[in-house]
Amino acid sequence: MKLDDLIKERHSCRSYLPTAISDAKIKQIVEAARLAPSSKNAQQWKFVCIKAKEESHDIANILENYYIKNKNNKEKMLGASSVFATGKILESCPAIILVFADTENITRTKVEDISALLSIGGAVEHMMLKATDMGLGCLWICDTYFVHNELADYILKKLKGTEKENFISKKNRLVCAMAVGVMAEPKYPKNRKTLDEILCIINN
Ligand SMILES: Cc1cc2nc3c(=O)[nH]c(=O)nc-3n(C[C@H](O)[C@H](O)[C@H](O)COP(=O)(O)O)c2cc1C
Repeated sequence: MKLDDLIKERHSCRSYLPTAISDAKIKQIVEAARLAPSSKNAQQWKFVCIKAKEESHDIANILENYYIKNKNNKEKMLGASSVFATGKILESCPAIILVFADTENITRTKVEDISALLSIGGAVEHMMLKATDMGLGCLWICDTYFVHNELADYILKKLKGTEKENFISKKNRLVCAMAVGVMAEPKYPKNRKTLDEILCIINN
């Protein structure tokens, strides 16, 4: 697909068919992330893909339970209004790519930390465009933020005793996730600000 068409075509898909996504397809998508630019070419990212149904449900439950436990707590619910809905989406999603920062705890105060987050953002956008080009639906997810420690602990536990035991460590922060699968919903029109609202060009 041409780049302009790809950019227009990509949208957030929130409903997926149960069709399995092959490892080969996941590798093609993460290959697009691998080639993304990163600050000082540090490639501060690690990807853990969950394709197993039970584990996807566990991850979905972790998000849903955050909402159930905290729905009356104003402070904990700040920005978290969609966390339950995002959990529900993950229940039906055949593949979830969890994106970890391969760096010390991100504090968001040091330039390295900000650069790492920006680089990861670029890598995720590469994956979204690649998935779209492959005819798949995808969704960028930051609602994982509210349960990032719990999710990271869950993954560490799953990897324990496997050959990938040291793939991520306690220091690697879970930054976001991406859902991917065969779309089970029609696309909707993009709701965007106009170019005039967001662009100012200063000429000589
Ligand atoms: C960094 C980022 C985080 C997002 N997190 C979530 C999320 O947790 N749950 C969700 O349903 N959508 C999430 N979205 C999707 C946005 O809501 C969506 O991109 C936006 O509404 C524009 O719609 P479009 O992607 O279809 O063009 C996220 C998007 C971005 C870029």
